[in-house]
Amino acid sequence: MPAIDLSAEPQDVEEAARLLRGGALVAFPTETVYGLGGDATSERAVAAIFAAKGRPRFNPLISHLAASEQATEFAELDERAREVAARFWPGPLTVVLPRRRDCAIALLAGAGLDTVALRVPAHALAHALLKAVGRPIAAPSANRSGRVSPTTASHVREELGDRIAAILDGGPCAIGLESTVLDLSAGRPTLLRPGGIPVEALEAAIGPIDRPRPGGADAPRSPGMLESHYAPALALRLDAITALPGEALLAFGADPPSGFAEIGWLSRAGDLVEAAANLFAALRALDRPGFSGIAVMPIPEHGLGAAINDRLRRAAAPRG
Ligand code: TXA
Ligand code: MG
Repeated sequence: MPAIDLSAEPQDVEEAARLLRGGALVAFPTETVYGLGGDATSERAVAAIFAAKGRPRFNPLISHLAASEQATEFAELDERAREVAARFWPGPLTVVLPRRRDCAIALLAGAGLDTVALRVPAHALAHALLKAVGRPIAAPSANRSGRVSPTTASHVREELGDRIAAILDGGPCAIGLESTVLDLSAGRPTLLRPGGIPVEALEAAIGPIDRPRPGGADAPRSPGMLESHYAPALALRLDAITALPGEALLAFGADPPSGFAEIGWLSRAGDLVEAAANLFAALRALDRPGFSGIAVMPIPEHGLGAAINDRLRRAAAPRG
């Protein structure tokens, strides 16, 4: 079914909010680019975002908030974070922060990391939508993987028109370039992506910011080249067909092999979107010292299977 066209009229914003609360995907404008939105608190909706984009990897996503005061519900803000939030939100700035323990944002939205990326967009329609939904909205740029970011509703329609429930049309984006991504989750502030707010303006507010050179020894933890991934403490064994003593099993499909100490389900139905939604929670649940390791059943390589396998392979790789 083609995406419904929605306008800035209040009843259309309410319809978009209703769709999002129900787990559907809705593209919406921000002052930077259009976002492909889903309920950030739903692992399932976040998995559907990755499926619609056709991303071969689970890059972490930005969670959008209606107001900067909401940031403390999800993340730990130190003095620097409070300073940039006060000065640059709402606006084209995304800040990566430590997740709060009780953070309601889906693990998949942070690609399993202990951080969340938050942004309060400065766009009247985005604000109205976020307020109506009453939850954070996870949204990457609303293009298919490997394509440029869309700055009009018709770009979004060309990219994703047959893959999402609705497109909220707010006209062309004023900035047309993605938000600046600033990492404040570790010791030194680090620029992960240049964007709508110049790094000099951020430095004027909080002092020096590291700008790693792409591919350098200090290469950044962002776009698609995250160096620090969530990896379980236990060894991971892929494409397991039979059990080794003391192993737990990450199962996919109706017929798991027997002999494992415990089974954690990715998806009994063999559904890759469900498996993606369960991936990080299931891995964490099995990552306990009582087991000798975690075995993973073969996961098909099509659709979201490619991203699931990419993440599992990297979690299974020898660690340096
Ligand atoms: O302007 C924008 O930022 C648009 C609008 C829709 O908000 N969004 C956007 O999202 O460009 P996306 O997914 O295309 O890019 C998000 C960037 C990626 O480079 C990603 O690696 C980084 O933010 N990012 C998100 N969460 C992160 C995290 N927890 N740690 C490090 N980097 C993160
Ligand atoms: Mg993008």
